[in-house]
Amino acid sequence: MKTKILSNSKQDITLAGRILGEGGLVAFPTETVYGLGANALNEEAVKSIYAAKGRPSDNPLIVHIAKKEDISPLVKEIPPKAQMLIDAFFPAPLTVILNKSELVNDTVSGGLETVALRMPKNEIARAVIEASGVPIAAPSANTSGLPSPTKASHVIADMNGKIDAIVDGGDCEFGVESTVITLAGETPVILRPGAITKEMIEEVIGEVELSGAVLSEMKEGEKAASPGMKYKHYSPKAKIILVDGDREKYEKFVNSKKDAFALCFEGDNITVPKVTFGAEGDDLSQAKQLFDKLRKLDELGAKRVYARLPNKNGVGMAVFNRLIRAAAFNIIDLNKPFTIGLTGPTGAGKGYICKYLREYGFKIIDSDSVARKITQNGSPVLLELQKAFGEDIVEDGELNRPLLAERAFSKKEETKKLNAIMHPAIIEECKKQSDIPCVLDAPQLFEAKAEGECYKVICVTAPLETRIDRIMKRDNISKQRALLRINAQFDEKYYIDHSDFVVYNNGEDVDEQINHILEEIL
Ligand code: TXA
Ligand code: MG
Repeated sequence: MKTKILSNSKQDITLAGRILGEGGLVAFPTETVYGLGANALNEEAVKSIYAAKGRPSDNPLIVHIAKKEDISPLVKEIPPKAQMLIDAFFPAPLTVILNKSELVNDTVSGGLETVALRMPKNEIARAVIEASGVPIAAPSANTSGLPSPTKASHVIADMNGKIDAIVDGGDCEFGVESTVITLAGETPVILRPGAITKEMIEEVIGEVELSGAVLSEMKEGEKAASPGMKYKHYSPKAKIILVDGDREKYEKFVNSKKDAFALCFEGDNITVPKVTFGAEGDDLSQAKQLFDKLRKLDELGAKRVYARLPNKNGVGMAVFNRLIRAAAFNIIDLNKPFTIGLTGPTGAGKGYICKYLREYGFKIIDSDSVARKITQNGSPVLLELQKAFGEDIVEDGELNRPLLAERAFSKKEETKKLNAIMHPAIIEECKKQSDIPCVLDAPQLFEAKAEGECYKVICVTAPLETRIDRIMKRDNISKQRALLRINAQFDEKYYIDHSDFVVYNNGEDVDEQINHILEEIL
């Protein structure tokens, strides 16, 4: 099929309307993104939209109208709150979902009893709909799964040869799709955030809910209020990873990466190849550029992209919602002081993994050396230990470790007392040494309740026999004593259940396991 490229001249708009009226497919600009239109009342025409986009047939389409009067034939009724929104906003980047009338076929509604309706603000869009003389079903004019098109060139890239015509109306004003709100049930629920914000809506109709799927990932098996939420979306070919942290942390983190691209804000100080999407805190400029920049990253051949996290206020919520889907919900949190917490039962051979991570480029913070450092001559921690376990545990300014151990490990209460003094002090000192990316090497990570300070926790474990052998050799002790040490700790299952990743250090493919984990984490 040869796709006609049309302008916004009167003549071309009349032609676009005629093609739509005859059952053809025409892409046209709206103030949000380009739409791929067909006559909503012609089921065959609507089917061809799904085919051109490669869209799953249970994902319903928005029906676009040119005048408010065109709404009522398509719906059972217009509830008062829906009417208030229509009066306050239409024409606007806002879609309302209502119970559908018989006129709306199952192909448009994806088999649902409801229909999504929108009257675009963009005048070219309304002129095209008006010229067609029918309501127009129109999803975003991208191949399903790819970023939505905000320029005619994006539509040409995805749809050339597959549809009848594209009306070129320049760049879209907002750049993210319309806000979708359902008014078909008892309480209004926002299913997709957009340029008409929750605050703006609440000013008109009072409190509304935000669907859980807007800000977080849907659980497996969860039913989607909006079918579109469950599909992979907006994804360029590059793997996108969102990075949570202020500008300085982000710059430092990304600039240390090899073979990475940055999707950052204007003015960020970045030394790796970068693409910017708007200015920090300027949600409108971010929204306008986001999809274009996701496409640009693919043009540049980016494989791995670290993106700055937009804040979620106002239209920022829409930017966040799209970007987090493009990133398949991958977020690295640099606000945690430690990138990786490394722990594991005694004798598992954590030392090897530590060495590997150091060579990989992580700063290693060794909690055992920190424990020694904070109990040096004259330190406040030493004084506290003396108060708790007796003056004589310090001789000539030096901590007598065997004596302290004897007293502290004699009874459970005493051990608790020791930990209550040592753990917070150790973690505080470790935090002072933290420098992203870093590893907190801490055999007692869980005992110290420090797992929450780590972005990810890796535990290293090994078969029991191997661990017993290692402890016996390492500390030159009997099997019985080795077992006592093992039994004084949490059991292996506890470590595994409380960690994000497990390395089985049984001599086989250990490097491969770590590389795989690092791939996941970073
Ligand atoms: O800004 C926009 O809304 C653009 C322009 C072209 O108007 N259109 C757009 O359409 O984004 P589309 O198909 O890409 O996204 C429509 C979203 C999907 O997530 C779909 O699942 C949801 O709206 N939707 C449509 N009808 C629905 C219904 N009856 N109930 C629940 N969700 C519905
Ligand atoms: Mg879409």
